Amino acid sequence: ATSRIGVTGLAVMGANLARNIARRGVPTAVHNRTTAKTTEFMAAYGEEGPFTPAESLEDFVASLETPRRIIVMVKAGRPVDAVIEELTPLLDEGDIIIDAGNSHFPDTVRRTEECAANGLRFMGIGVSGGEEGALLGPSIMPGGDPSAYAEVEEILTSIAAVVDGTPCCTHVGPGGAGHYVKMVHNGIEYADIQLIAEAYDLLTHVGGLDAPAIAKIFEEWNTGDLESFLIEITAKVLAKTDEKTGGPLVDVIVDQAEQKGTGTWTAVDALGLGVPLTGITEAVFARGLSALRDERRAASTTLAGPTPGDGPDGLVDDIRQALYASKVVAYAQGFAQMRAASKANDWDLDLGAMATIWRGGCIIRAQFLNRIRDAYAEHPDLDNLLMVPYFTQAVADAQDAWRRVVVTATQQGVAIPAFASSLSYYDGYRRERGPANLIQGLRDFFGAHTYRRTDAEGSFHTRWGQDGAEVRTDG
Ligand code: 6PG
Repeated sequence: ATSRIGVTGLAVMGANLARNIARRGVPTAVHNRTTAKTTEFMAAYGEEGPFTPAESLEDFVASLETPRRIIVMVKAGRPVDAVIEELTPLLDEGDIIIDAGNSHFPDTVRRTEECAANGLRFMGIGVSGGEEGALLGPSIMPGGDPSAYAEVEEILTSIAAVVDGTPCCTHVGPGGAGHYVKMVHNGIEYADIQLIAEAYDLLTHVGGLDAPAIAKIFEEWNTGDLESFLIEITAKVLAKTDEKTGGPLVDVIVDQAEQKGTGTWTAVDALGLGVPLTGITEAVFARGLSALRDERRAASTTLAGPTPGDGPDGLVDDIRQALYASKVVAYAQGFAQMRAASKANDWDLDLGAMATIWRGGCIIRAQFLNRIRDAYAEHPDLDNLLMVPYFTQAVADAQDAWRRVVVTATQQGVAIPAFASSLSYYDGYRRERGPANLIQGLRDFFGAHTYRRTDAEGSFHTRWGQDGAEVRTDG
């Protein structure tokens, strides 16, 4: 037994993680269900570090020092269970199985229990940064038993991205916490991408700009508050010329967004928790609407819209500000969701630490996360990011532009679900008294669901259909 860690599943993400580990001199066992993949891997990268390839799972397990540390990097869902089932009889008490895929956190909770029943320690770790991140330094969100994390901490922190000397990896919490945080990361990624797409749509259809001109705008935006990986690559994607047509590549890409489910999980979880998560949820819905391409084509010649007009002066900078304010809202919502989940599951999530490990390596890495980290450093029990002075001011400064953009888009018939819903959330959140008093009145009318009064304790019902008198219903 000579390897300190093993990786099974050598598709691109698994292969790159294994290479990242071995390149740091850590003896690494590699295995794949189909041996040809392992052979190819060794032929291509065998020289990069101290690898021990194994053809069978038995040999793979035998080549690991104890407690064994095994990273499983296979497709989320059933394949993860299949690998755990095969591994279990080969392992000893205290060995550690690490699922580094995009697993749904309830599965991670279940697997943790199943493994514990067999004397094994299970970890669900979120890994973000795509193929390049896995190889050169991802953001890592490890969840699971702290004793298991202690056994892999050194390796994980050594392969993670580093920002200002701090690795983008920290123990997130027990059980499903790591995969939960990765799920919310992906949800925020959906919101960020949707907001960028809405800005692009407005710059195209109201601003009258072509893709190369918009690329320059995003490049410029990437030097300010919006500086982030996604804004940076937006400029690159928009600037790309298509080899076939000689025009912008984006102009020939089909406008149907695909998805693998993590955004939907985030939205569904928020609904269950009762957390208003409008930005991410609208982003998921927008992908769903984009998929209805045939229906949209028919509707485009049937359903009426406004007559297009010219964009107002200052449109480009207004859009920048609307994008920033909406982004602040999307993050405020995502962090509020993590806070609610942390309370519901007793995870004791350190939200400032989550912002810290997202500063590098992951898809949503951005300057802006430093501000979120600072906010939680000062106010660890913060209910909502909008309430810290930096973000309060940022949104106050942007709100006039944000409102103009929503008005312009609405007048000109451009769909901006994430911009508009973020603004509505903001306007709803800053109201001391909203209109839900009427909702309660209606519920009481049709179903005797009762209401509370602003001027008295207790629950009340009005006998709407009888004498119209109010009765107290709680004793
Ligand atoms: C990451 C990404 C990654 C995810 C892609 C695609 O953090 O590296 O989140 O995990 O798979 O972003 O997601 P969709 O196919 O759902 O857009």
